[in-house]
Amino acid sequence: MKQNKIAILAGIVTVVALLHSCRKAELLSETDWNEWLSGGKQTLFDESARAFSSMFPDMSSRNQNIHAIGDKAFSATHVSAPAPINPGLGPIFNNVSCSSCHIADGRGKPPLNAAEPLSAMLIRLSIPGAGVHGEPLSVPGFGTQLQQRAIAGTVKEADVLITYTEHNYSFPDGATYTLRTPVYQLNNPYIPLPSNVLLSPRMAPPVFGLGLLEAIDESEILSFADENDANGDGISGKPNYVWDVLSNSLKLGRFGWKANNPTLLQQTAGAYNEDMGITNYVFPKESSYEQIQFDHHDDDPELADSVLRAVSFYVQTLAVPVRRNASDVEVLRGKELFTKASCASCHRPSMVTGVHVELPEVSNTRIFPYTDLLLHDMGEGLADNRPDFAADGREWRTPPLWGIGLTQKVNGHNFFLHDGRARSLEEAILWHGGEAENAVLYYKNLSKTDRQAILKFLQSL
Ligand code: HEC
Ligand code: HEC
Repeated sequence: MKQNKIAILAGIVTVVALLHSCRKAELLSETDWNEWLSGGKQTLFDESARAFSSMFPDMSSRNQNIHAIGDKAFSATHVSAPAPINPGLGPIFNNVSCSSCHIADGRGKPPLNAAEPLSAMLIRLSIPGAGVHGEPLSVPGFGTQLQQRAIAGTVKEADVLITYTEHNYSFPDGATYTLRTPVYQLNNPYIPLPSNVLLSPRMAPPVFGLGLLEAIDESEILSFADENDANGDGISGKPNYVWDVLSNSLKLGRFGWKANNPTLLQQTAGAYNEDMGITNYVFPKESSYEQIQFDHHDDDPELADSVLRAVSFYVQTLAVPVRRNASDVEVLRGKELFTKASCASCHRPSMVTGVHVELPEVSNTRIFPYTDLLLHDMGEGLADNRPDFAADGREWRTPPLWGIGLTQKVNGHNFFLHDGRARSLEEAILWHGGEAENAVLYYKNLSKTDRQAILKFLQSL
């Protein structure tokens, strides 16, 4: 009798334990487990301040060497020619190294006050209209990017002053919030700027996981496009097609805040040329060439081809950090609300990379970048009113959200959006408009607890 009792008790315990593990299995289904691995097989188990800075964990030793060479060059400080190491800076430039803008391989921040110089962001420029390939039109004497610094003997193009005006708003539940609107002013231009100049301020975005985004088949990205909103959900999604300098053709844009760059090689070569004034085989002329200033050195291209390749390879092979607390009940609730609010219609949770013959490390991997890499009208509030190839003045590329919860830890701040105007993840959401108008309305109408759950979910990415 006693033994039977024990058997029955043991039975109950087993049933309870089984129920418990079912419940656990429900919370942590197969897909949830995979979702921990934001970068698939190239996910890094590092939640520290170095979480954006490690190479793919699964990589051949030959490729590890190339990555290490690129790593060194990425943080090398350049100086003006002639110099024994890292010459070529200028004559005009924005900053002295890749890592001075992409700090710890993460994002830049806007100046904290009017006295602080612009450092980890830049201003794109153009005049209205488009060139033969659809590109933005150069501002005579300035090109399509403002350089606010210059080497000795030359003059910077202009000073940039950013000021903010603050506005107060409230949620339907009465809670209040403040958003700040930036105003950009170009002072002391070295020659007069035309009155119709268009400005597009841009913050340095994080640079990890990009090789995986580059390896997604074009057809996979285009499958999310719905340019004429055929499904009537108010969200379209449009590919940008931008000029690929090496193949002399229009290609799908993937990188930059307006998907204005087709490849990591071109992005890297353009950064050397425009951001630092260093010529290379992709962009062999000084960015100031068609303008008025020269560096008076017959040393172009200033950068060795192998260095350009290695740095491009470096940003191609930076691993994606693992998610934290992905199975936390509140995080899971936030994830559900993220989908219900239709955030996921633009910030697509998952994609699969295609086959990359030269770099099998990025092939055939399910990744969780939370982007569609497409352009969306984000409303008047975020508009820069400057077209960039097929992107109009209100359109921006959905930025990936992977790793975003580690921004504070890695970069020591929480400035978000293309120009860093948002001072928190919540402000970034509240700035959404245009195609995201319904999503932001949904967010505003949630209870405080539910809003917190969405933010907690973002923190877990
Ligand atoms: C002056 C600051 C600055 C410097 C220096 C700089 N970048 Fe950038 N970087 C940016 C900004 C701003 C963007 C976004 C550009 C845009 O939207 O057009 C960007 C974009 C990128 C991207 C695309 C990221 C994405 O998610 O789309 C890569 C890759 C990149 N930079 C690599 C580099 C490399 C490599 C170097 C050094 C050779 C470098 N950058 C130097 C500011 C900088
Ligand atoms: C219509 C497409 C769309 C929808 C819907 C949408 N987003 Fe975005 N999201 C974007 C774009 C585009 C940006 C970049 C805008 C900019 O920088 O000006 C962005 C930026 C962000 C950022 C800042 C990212 C960064 O790197 O600075 C966060 C956080 C974010 N979105 C979260 C959300 C959440 C949460 C929702 C749902 C409530 C949502 N988004 C709905 C397209 C969308």
